[in-house]
Amino acid sequence: MTDGRVILIAGGSGSIGSAIARLALEQGWKVALHGRDAEKLQDVVVDLSDFGTIDGFAADIREDDAAETLIAEVAEQYGRIDAVIDCTATGPQGITGLFPGTSPEVFGDFLRVSVGWTQRLAHAAYELLAQQGGTLIAFVSDAGIYAAPRQTLIGAARAGTIGFVRNFAVEAARDGIRAHVISPSYVEGSESARRMGSERMAKAAQRAGLGLPTADDIAPLALFLCSDGARRMTGQVLSINGGLNA
Ligand SMILES: NC(=O)c1ccc[n+]([C@@H]2O[C@H](COP(=O)([O-])OP(=O)(O)OC[C@H]3O[C@@H](n4cnc5c(N)ncnc54)[C@H](OP(=O)(O)O)[C@@H]3O)[C@@H](O)[C@H]2O)c1
Repeated sequence: MTDGRVILIAGGSGSIGSAIARLALEQGWKVALHGRDAEKLQDVVVDLSDFGTIDGFAADIREDDAAETLIAEVAEQYGRIDAVIDCTATGPQGITGLFPGTSPEVFGDFLRVSVGWTQRLAHAAYELLAQQGGTLIAFVSDAGIYAAPRQTLIGAARAGTIGFVRNFAVEAARDGIRAHVISPSYVEGSESARRMGSERMAKAAQRAGLGLPTADDIAPLALFLCSDGARRMTGQVLSINGGLNA
């Protein structure tokens, strides 16, 4: 049963977050949708409002107290938070590519707005999640799990998020909180796929025996992990990549 339960989807105005939001509404969750660009966020909220209760919360995660403010606003609006899914994607230029060509100065900033943001979100939401036996899910990318050329910096940062969530999960289980990582690789139809270009996506698709996932293939996994059906599992890292990596 999800009626009355509240899910916060950070970076929810993006490709994967909005697919999760739609399915969550269909399953009876109340949805707090976060994004940076208030106008884009509002468009997504309006599109999805036919499916159930959804409100938008705009904030730039680069602001110092963004996580604390966001959680306080959602708690004030709904009175509870049962699940937090972090779908923010913040990669700046210079974070991927052959290592000598990457920009050393961008790495610290990327760590702060990727691992650092997930950690602050988890910290700010901790008490509310503990009250409900709630779930935290962080999205990373396969670069954090599977070594590959051109992924040195992003792989290091994503591995940081994975390390955070797995250690958090073991400790937070004592307070009834579950935590997982979901790791896509290439996602068909996403903004990121458009940025990569059709040639690179086609090459990836050839290697993925099951076909590359869309955002709609990822949403059911995220919501299953937040459901009672997954109540005895935590700390897992689940890659959804159509058979590209295993
Ligand atoms: N799509 C893929 O192919 C793919 C592959 C591997 C991993 N992933 C991971 O999966 C997750 C979701 O990806 P996605 O494809 O849904 O990404 P996306 O479509 O690019 O959406 C990114 C979301 O993050 C928000 N965001 C970015 N910078 C922000 C900031 N400074 N402050 C607040 N919000 C900010 C965006 O809001 P605005 O649009 O308003 O900025 C948007 O809501 C990410 O962690 C991504 O790295 C995706």
